[in-house]
Amino acid sequence: MILKGVDLHKSYKMGQTKLEVLRGLDVSISEGEFVAIVGASGSGKSTLLHLLGALDKPNQGRVEFRGKALSSFGSGQLNGFRNKTVGFVFQFYHLLDELNILENTLLPAMAGSNSFGWVSRRKTAKESAILLLERMGLGGRLKHKAYQLSGGERQRVAIARALINDPELLLADEPTGNLDSETGNGILEALEEFHLAGQTIVMVTHDSRIADRADRVIRLVDGKIE
Ligand SMILES: Nc1ncnc2c1ncn2[C@@H]1O[C@H](COP(=O)(O)OP(=O)(O)OP(=O)(O)O)[C@@H](O)[C@H]1O
Ligand SMILES: [Mg+2]
Repeated sequence: MILKGVDLHKSYKMGQTKLEVLRGLDVSISEGEFVAIVGASGSGKSTLLHLLGALDKPNQGRVEFRGKALSSFGSGQLNGFRNKTVGFVFQFYHLLDELNILENTLLPAMAGSNSFGWVSRRKTAKESAILLLERMGLGGRLKHKAYQLSGGERQRVAIARALINDPELLLADEPTGNLDSETGNGILEALEEFHLAGQTIVMVTHDSRIADRADRVIRLVDGKIE
């Protein structure tokens, strides 16, 4: 088991009321598995993915990575987990507008090295970034800044960025949500190739055709897995 969520509770306090989003959810992801998470808008899919990627903490329950609770990680270990172990594709991309797409893709690689290490790593990191961007059909846009891209192109840069550190876990929040079906299929094929090469993938999607291609589909209903 590479990743496990045990009795996950997450609620948001809104003034006097408490919005309970996850209500004791259990989930296990095996190494190399491709899991799709589906559920209505507002059902807590992004919330769950954030907990699994240590971007937020549960109010109750725990997330375990290879049997070790994330809550027992020190801050350095937790940063390493977020930066190197997990590749995260955000639902709203979170690219830096003023950087070109090559620089955006390289950010997690830079963040993961000290300045000295970066000097020696830069060349190979740049080569892998270009390969990933070409794979995403963006070879002709390397000098484009993020704000000069279409929504679907941004989404594809976000996927390349998530993969740059060769993560053990790819957590993707609607990675094809803004793409036409042909481009979406291309992205899905690329993800399937990564999956065949051993990449563990947890992907949120609204598209049942995409979910059909996963090894397993998890449906979120009433704060739990149905
Ligand atoms: N920081 C927050 N503060 C208050 N409420 C929040 C916060 N984040 C999320 N919520 C609420 O929690 C619920 C679940 O949100 P979440 O983003 O996980 O849904 P989702 O399943 O990803 O939906 P979508 O398919 O629309 O992306 C929503 O009703 C949302 O309004
Ligand atoms: Mg969401």
